[in-house]
Amino acid sequence: MAVAPETGERTLTLTVDGQEVKAIPGDTILTVCRRLGIDIPTLCYDERMEPYGGCRLCLVEVEGARGPVPACAAVVGDGMSVTTMSDKIFKLRKFVIELLLSNHPLDCPVCEAAGDCRLQDYAWEYEVNMTPWGWHPKDFATRDDHPNVARNPNRCINCGRCVRICRDVMGIGCWGFTNRGYETIIDTPYNLPLEQVGCVSCGQCVSACPVGALTHKRSRHDVRIWQTDKTDTICPYCGVGCEFTAQTFRDRLVRVTTEPGQGINNGNLCVKGRFGMEFVNSPDRLTTPMVRNEDGNLVPSTWEVALDRVEQNFKRIKEESGAEAFAGLASAKCTNEDNYAFQKFMRGVIGTNNVDHCARL
Ligand code: FES
Repeated sequence: MAVAPETGERTLTLTVDGQEVKAIPGDTILTVCRRLGIDIPTLCYDERMEPYGGCRLCLVEVEGARGPVPACAAVVGDGMSVTTMSDKIFKLRKFVIELLLSNHPLDCPVCEAAGDCRLQDYAWEYEVNMTPWGWHPKDFATRDDHPNVARNPNRCINCGRCVRICRDVMGIGCWGFTNRGYETIIDTPYNLPLEQVGCVSCGQCVSACPVGALTHKRSRHDVRIWQTDKTDTICPYCGVGCEFTAQTFRDRLVRVTTEPGQGINNGNLCVKGRFGMEFVNSPDRLTTPMVRNEDGNLVPSTWEVALDRVEQNFKRIKEESGAEAFAGLASAKCTNEDNYAFQKFMRGVIGTNNVDHCARL
């Protein structure tokens, strides 16, 4: 079975769960398995970043290897034979989850990430009842000093995805590992408030967190993920055209989320795209054209009346003051085609070259 993309590159042949497959040099076992539709659990892996190999949940067996290998970091080789599930692998993955749960709060009923938590899903899938060696939950102080990012360090599993996405994708480095062993905590330098260590409020760390340690603060205790309607759409802010999923509940936008691999932005968003959507629900938002009445007050109208008024005033101004009295400012929110039509209108209909554009909002 050929699963390597048609790139014209040299291909390798390996065996995965007994089936012969093609791959391209540099592919990891995880990449090949995902192409084949084989589900391998991952916690520290995020395709927006280099493999980290920290959580060891993606262990698989490779014939001839000294022990199980992490599928996310192991590169395939010609003639390799991989087994993705066996009694041994099931027990090892279950063991990893038990270790993680041994000091993880079991507060799923009140956790913001319930229903959207990989650890919760895997604990169920691998039939983890309780940890065999007792439960010793962390007791770090909870900080709540950021307007967009809600943080609960006790729910952190130290997968390092927030650390790496902030450092490697955003080039900032607000987060880092502090202390050792059971005392390890992901924190800001010198435990300073996030806003004082260069945070640009992009929420990339929130998008990378696989559990409930970093969550959307603005929609906290608003609505559960399974209650929302999800609509894939394009960010309206600038011309990049990032894709995201708008989560709505009873016709109200509650949250914007992204997944690695989604859109040209590959699951990445800036502060405006991720957290700047509250205007959608604003009661001040214009939903109908407004025109001034005889008293000079703005009153609701129809598009026909409003556009007639615009046309009359455009004609009057042009007669009185000429075309150079006009200037047009187009918007980055519009498509290229909209902006092209706009400058055509200004030049061809109004008769002026006074056209500009806000390159970014
Ligand atoms: Fe492979 Fe964490 S997902 S080691």
